[in-house]
Amino acid sequence: MDVFGWFKKRPAAGQSIPLRPRDCHSHVIPGVDDGSRDLEMSLAMLRLLAGAGAQTVVCTSHLYPAKYDNTPDRLRAAFAQLEHATAAAGVGVTLELGAEHFLDDGLADRIRRDELLAFGPERYVLFEAHTGEHVPGPLFEVVRVLVERGYTPLLAHVERYHWLRGPDGDEICEDLRSAGTRFQVNRTVGKTNVPGEGTRGQFLARLLARNWIDEVGSDLHRPTPDGRPFA
Ligand SMILES: [Fe+2]
Repeated sequence: MDVFGWFKKRPAAGQSIPLRPRDCHSHVIPGVDDGSRDLEMSLAMLRLLAGAGAQTVVCTSHLYPAKYDNTPDRLRAAFAQLEHATAAAGVGVTLELGAEHFLDDGLADRIRRDELLAFGPERYVLFEAHTGEHVPGPLFEVVRVLVERGYTPLLAHVERYHWLRGPDGDEICEDLRSAGTRFQVNRTVGKTNVPGEGTRGQFLARLLARNWIDEVGSDLHRPTPDGRPFA
């Protein structure tokens, strides 16, 4: 039996990863990170996501010490304002509050102090890591602390990390999953994140073949098709 067969498996041409009814990763709260700049932009982004099929948009602004000056309470207040404005404008999406927690040496302690924002019936805690070559030191400690407290760790845009796409990536994925971590990937937009195309695409194809894509996000930062934070 070719145990590595899944690794070589190519997806059918034209395969993509579309948004699901719940967009689990977005930067639509205005003025708190590198996402939306103002309320008008936020409403345009939410209309765009509704048009792409989102019924629920989870607002996952950065909780990233020393980079963005956010706290769970600050995000709760900004979220309440956006939720009110969204309903008043008649945009047909439901909003939920989460956050994109940055994995640094302090994250485990912030979790222990309840400085986090979880969402959904899964009690997902979305977190991102650096994208470099080496497995982040506190990764498995953070996963353990979350699981011990009844949360489900949700690793953000797993296709981005060199340390997961490298030769040891499959084993690390298996270890993460058996420790209770779930995987979020960003949706396919144009030529970005097309399964099978390029290094990321090859990795996404492997995740698909293993049925390891748990959630999909737009990671939208701007009201543009690709939503990147540079426009
Ligand atoms: Fe993000």
